[in-house]
Amino acid sequence: MPDQLTPIGDRLLLYRAPAPRQTASFADEVRAGLSATQKRVPPKYFYDDLGSALFEAICFLPEYYLTRAETEILERYAPAIVDALGGPIDLIEFGSGSARKTRYLIAEILLRQRSGDYKPIDISPSALIDSARALVSEYDRLHVSAYAADYFDVLLNARLSTSKRVLALFLGSNIGNYEPDQARELLSAMSAAFKPGDALLLGTDLKKAPKTLELAYNDPTGVTAAFDKNLLGRINRELGGHFDLDGFEHVARYDVARGVVESFLVARRGQVVAIDALGMQARFSAAEMIHTESSYKFDFGDIEGLAGDCGFRVARHWVDAQRRFAVNLLVIE
Ligand code: AVI
Repeated sequence: MPDQLTPIGDRLLLYRAPAPRQTASFADEVRAGLSATQKRVPPKYFYDDLGSALFEAICFLPEYYLTRAETEILERYAPAIVDALGGPIDLIEFGSGSARKTRYLIAEILLRQRSGDYKPIDISPSALIDSARALVSEYDRLHVSAYAADYFDVLLNARLSTSKRVLALFLGSNIGNYEPDQARELLSAMSAAFKPGDALLLGTDLKKAPKTLELAYNDPTGVTAAFDKNLLGRINRELGGHFDLDGFEHVARYDVARGVVESFLVARRGQVVAIDALGMQARFSAAEMIHTESSYKFDFGDIEGLAGDCGFRVARHWVDAQRRFAVNLLVIE
């Protein structure tokens, strides 16, 4: 149960989901995904330690503007965001990673109240623990309860609602990696876990020219290709797979009608790949594609529709100077 928190430092508690459960689901999902007609591997498996490091590198790429645009918004508007909600505030973050952008909000909250509670939730334990330790040493009035677990596990089992106003963060356009039905399911679970007046700060990448979007997801340096292929590397390392990573090419395509950049690993030739731990042979014909990620893009109508379907109302939004990205304050009705 996520409420079983263990102290691992001064002002720092940790819940860690049992590792065997995570391994079993990776094996099950790879087996199902590579046996399907449209082969797929879910994007949540990008983020082992190597994948998380590659994603951090993506955020420095000139073509991947999302992180810089969102950081610009939070740096500039953190006081307005905290004031719009009113206090005192407890912070929760889904997919906290290094929590670099969160610091703007933590600093503003601690200017307005004596102490602060922060609950980061992230599937990658090493990144979570490192960033939680750094935060408690930087902010001596901050208490951190870190959850190394799946979002639904925490939303359904932990007591997240507090007597203070809760500001939940779901930044980085992470919502874009969910198919529309799943996005509604997740946001509805979030609104059900909190009380009226609590809010969700949702980072969304905005719809724009296909060229700009495709370059953001297929950079000439090849970092995104390495990030994508790490899924096959992870199958090799953890499940005894025999993928030749050079046998696949990373491709990213923007579908204007659906507003989504889709990433694929495309087989350069026909091949049969054994995966020892699954006792299976995955067969690929030449040019066959494995779907690895959807990155949905939004306009303001999309954001309002999504919020309204899930028990929220959009109270405000802030955009960067080039209007590439939006940070939206969704309040629970
Ligand atoms: C984490 N997520 C929001 C990123 C995105 O933009 O979809 C993951 C990513 N995939 C390729 N580049 C970045």
